[in-house]
Amino acid sequence: MARSPSPFVVVGARLSAAIAAAFGAEFAEEDPVLRPSQHADAQANAAMALAKRLGQSPRDVAAAIIAAAQLDDVVERTEIAGPGFINIWLRPAALGDAVTTIASDVRAGIGHVDHPDRVVIDYSSPTINKEMHVGHLRSTIIGDALVRVLEFLGHTVIRQNHYGDWGTNYGSPLERFIELRDAGEEPSLDDLNAFYKDAQDQFTSDPAFADRARARTVALQSGDPETLAVWRKFVDTAHAHNVLIYKRLGVLLVDDDVKPESWYNAELADTADELERLGVAVMNEGALCIFLEGYEAPLIIRKSDGGWGYGTTDMAAIRHRIRDLRGTRLLYVVDSRQSQHLNQVILAAQKAGWIAPPARAEHVNFGLVLGKDGKPLKSRAGDNPKLGDLLDDAVARAAAIVDEKDPDLDGDARARVARAVGIGAVKYTDLQSERIKDYTFDLERMVAFDGNTGPYLQYAHARIKSIFRRAGVNDTEIAGAPVALVEPQERALAIALVGFADAVEAVSDLCAPHKLCTYLFDLAQAFTAFYEACPVLKADDATRDSRLVLCAATATTLRIGLGLLGIEAPEQL
Ligand code: ARG
Repeated sequence: MARSPSPFVVVGARLSAAIAAAFGAEFAEEDPVLRPSQHADAQANAAMALAKRLGQSPRDVAAAIIAAAQLDDVVERTEIAGPGFINIWLRPAALGDAVTTIASDVRAGIGHVDHPDRVVIDYSSPTINKEMHVGHLRSTIIGDALVRVLEFLGHTVIRQNHYGDWGTNYGSPLERFIELRDAGEEPSLDDLNAFYKDAQDQFTSDPAFADRARARTVALQSGDPETLAVWRKFVDTAHAHNVLIYKRLGVLLVDDDVKPESWYNAELADTADELERLGVAVMNEGALCIFLEGYEAPLIIRKSDGGWGYGTTDMAAIRHRIRDLRGTRLLYVVDSRQSQHLNQVILAAQKAGWIAPPARAEHVNFGLVLGKDGKPLKSRAGDNPKLGDLLDDAVARAAAIVDEKDPDLDGDARARVARAVGIGAVKYTDLQSERIKDYTFDLERMVAFDGNTGPYLQYAHARIKSIFRRAGVNDTEIAGAPVALVEPQERALAIALVGFADAVEAVSDLCAPHKLCTYLFDLAQAFTAFYEACPVLKADDATRDSRLVLCAATATTLRIGLGLLGIEAPEQL
């Protein structure tokens, strides 16, 4: 659990200790499940589960926990509610101190985990016989947010961009390229998608070509130098395209993170042998297969013609990630359509004993990107939209809005802000809904400055920065001042602020960036309510300073929170 001065975390730890004292260490839950509540500052539901295990009444158990808990310095009062909830009200002084700490800490009060994992995260991972598509955009954005959060909490993170650069998908485009070239044409790869489509069309319409394309795959797999040379061209072209997209998105992926399918070629035979030796893979109708409970179709390790497939590479990769990279937590940020495949790979690796607790692997699945018509997003021409075009549109739309909001920004700053807002809007939309759901790509909504959007949060941050500009003080100067929580809106803002650690932790535990989005949105709303009710610059000195600390803590939390999502927070909008 992340350590932090958050009174919630402190109270949680004290409740765990109280449970141990009252009922024995074996009952001390690691997490007594403390939640923000509408009825109190926080509510703990530890008593109910515990009562079941003990065979006692939940209200009695709750009373025993409270009696054993040492909370006086942080908690003003407690109450047992309903079937055994413990309602908790914090001391304003404890809350105020927590706000001061958040405002003056570069990490907004969030600590590092006690037991870091080695997280190996497979994300982006496009198949590179054409340009990446919106599905890969989602993987790239979600994966990158997870990387940032996990690293921030102190985990070691190893990024793996598992390019699909091998196999049957290459037969047709390679064959087409070579035939065009040998016929004296100069085939251009400027539009990889178009080239790929033409090759596919030829494959379906011309059986003789289809045969030659299949033979080309065999030539590739057996390392024919001429085929390899052309294949390299395709790989380099696609990679150059991806690098541009990564750069525009500002994600952390670099060349060294690319470990393509072809990298595993030398390990495939050995992987298959080991699986067979372990009895995990068995021969069936000439193919080497892994049969898994709950799945009708086996995972194919070696086809009856001796060829390797997608599954073989994934088995070699999972073995590598555990054995060589020494991963303790493997994440696969891949769309939901590959659930069956990845679950089979993970189960098979468990069966082989490669993954054993505490090491674990998770498919971080996600839904589709839809157009406004509710169907998978298409470009105006009806094909897969180009990611570069989508990003261009978003930045152009953002530029128009920035012009309107802040006509005084000069050229350079204007372009920078428009980029931050446009790209931030795309990323935020992707992250803000529960990832397993589909979402609609609606530029208008994405760049709106109201509602649960990236620009709304960027604007909230910039607005606080402008308060400091007007106050003529630096937010770091004021950050250590004491905070007095008097008005209900001040208290509500403070409670929102101390919830940051829990939100960040939820992202890392559940691979759920939307938890952080929701948190930041609620925080920005709590700030707005506070700012409307509580004058800052016009208040007397002590109150003004106290409120400025609330402002500083909010700005820091918004900036760090957006940063963890991979979104910039400009000082001025
Ligand atoms: N290349 C695949 C695609 O474009 C995704 C790869 C995901 N990662 C993996 N280890 N299978 O759909």
